[in-house]
Amino acid sequence: MSKVLIVCYSYTGTSRRLAQTLAAYQRWPLGEVTDRAPRAGFTGAWRCMLDSLLRRRPPIRYAGPDPSGFELVVLVAPIWAYQLAGPMRTFIATRTDLPRRFAMLCTMGSRGAPNAFAEAAHLLGRVPVLDAAFTAREIEDGSCADRLRAMGVSLQAAAAPGEPARPASWSPQAG
Ligand SMILES: Cc1cc2nc3c(=O)[nH]c(=O)nc-3n(C[C@H](O)[C@H](O)[C@H](O)COP(=O)(O)O)c2cc1C
Repeated sequence: MSKVLIVCYSYTGTSRRLAQTLAAYQRWPLGEVTDRAPRAGFTGAWRCMLDSLLRRRPPIRYAGPDPSGFELVVLVAPIWAYQLAGPMRTFIATRTDLPRRFAMLCTMGSRGAPNAFAEAAHLLGRVPVLDAAFTAREIEDGSCADRLRAMGVSLQAAAAPGEPARPASWSPQAG
């Protein structure tokens, strides 16, 4: 059985695409966080902004394997208003069954990922074994493929039992 679980939240599809690509490279299972209240149209986008500005934890659903059975979870989510997307905040803050080791991959236009990494570490009380930011453009044009592949190999090694957790950052300058 895989030791690594990927959990993604995606509003417009970019983070899901990154998560699915990593899952395909490494043959890791993928779980998905979704909104209980749909975010269609202008009011939906406005709610995204408010969730970030007010650090809200919107109601979510999770569909996927039970995280407690894994050595490491890779969290994938977008940046909204320079912060972690609210639904992933809810997931991190409310799940009590996440493995000790986690990695965080954020997708964004250009800026804000460090805030999300810091918030995730604060909520979980530990640093990620790896964090990385990807621009929507490099996901769309496929230019992040080599970096993502290398991360997959590195995370597979980090998931070995007994491997110490250590911080790492593979983000581009824009992060
Ligand atoms: C409401 C909203 C706020 C956003 N705020 C930022 C931001 O502060 N910084 C940034 O670089 N990108 C920002 N973006 C762009 C998204 O982070 C980026 O397009 C991301 O890849 C979308 O992921 P998704 O398709 O999985 O939802 C924002 C997008 C939305 C919808």
